[in-house]
Amino acid sequence: MSRVETIGNAVLYLGDMRDIVPDLPIIDMIFMDLPYKLTSGGNSTGQMGGKFSKESYNGSGKIINCDIQFSEIMPLVARILPEGHAYFMVNNRYVSHCQNEAEKAGFHFHNLLVWDKGTGTPNRWYMKNCEFTVFVKKGGEKYINDCGSRQLIKCPNILNSFHKTEKPVALIKHYIRNSTHQGQVVFDGCMGVAPAGTAAINLGRKFIGIELVEKNFDEACRRVEKAYLESQDMFEGFSHLPPLPVTPPR
Ligand SMILES: C[S@@+](CC[C@H](N)C(=O)[O-])C[C@H]1O[C@@H](n2cnc3c(N)ncnc32)[C@H](O)[C@@H]1O
Repeated sequence: MSRVETIGNAVLYLGDMRDIVPDLPIIDMIFMDLPYKLTSGGNSTGQMGGKFSKESYNGSGKIINCDIQFSEIMPLVARILPEGHAYFMVNNRYVSHCQNEAEKAGFHFHNLLVWDKGTGTPNRWYMKNCEFTVFVKKGGEKYINDCGSRQLIKCPNILNSFHKTEKPVALIKHYIRNSTHQGQVVFDGCMGVAPAGTAAINLGRKFIGIELVEKNFDEACRRVEKAYLESQDMFEGFSHLPPLPVTPPR
């Protein structure tokens, strides 16, 4: 780890989650949008735009850092969540792999959640307009807070985003609201620009986040700070909460 920032009830680490997670305290919920290889669905004509355009994509399947295996991550994060819900976002290609590795690490599968993004990525084998979340738990039975919530949620995708695979705060808020209470700790080990951190702070939860790339980390700090300043008035009552322990930079 090369940097750590404490912002209100959030602790953000710059570094590789494989080095940092072993020293973290117990948390109450995981939201992780896992780094995985992306496929363009065919760009032989070079006519695709956005993140798969010829200028920004070399066909390697890597548009973000993704040299990490689910089999490495799952046992690490399972250890810091003895009890509670975990949400692992992946695309269609990685759903079964993610579920298998989560179950091997001791998570129990609950449901496959679907996000309808509104926008679609061109594909010769059906256009992709959805992403998936493997919803699992550790420990005893614990219902979601709103049992009327549906498996499929529609939420507009972010256009012209800072991060190539940025997720909407509103989507993550829905999951955090359903699986935690105020004052509990949400964890994201590959936070990007920290929509999960923003959502957690907006809802009066604590947050621990990790990001490998400094440019994303700096933006994550900026956004979490903004969320913290905006939500201070709403959650004054939480000033009595004990602060999150911080692992100092090595
Ligand atoms: C799918 S993106 C997450 C995007 C995020 N949900 C957002 O909306 O901004 C995965 C992130 O994991 C980061 N990452 C990749 N390997 C990592 C590692 N070993 N430790 C921590 N972060 C990592 C990447 O830099 C990338 O920002």
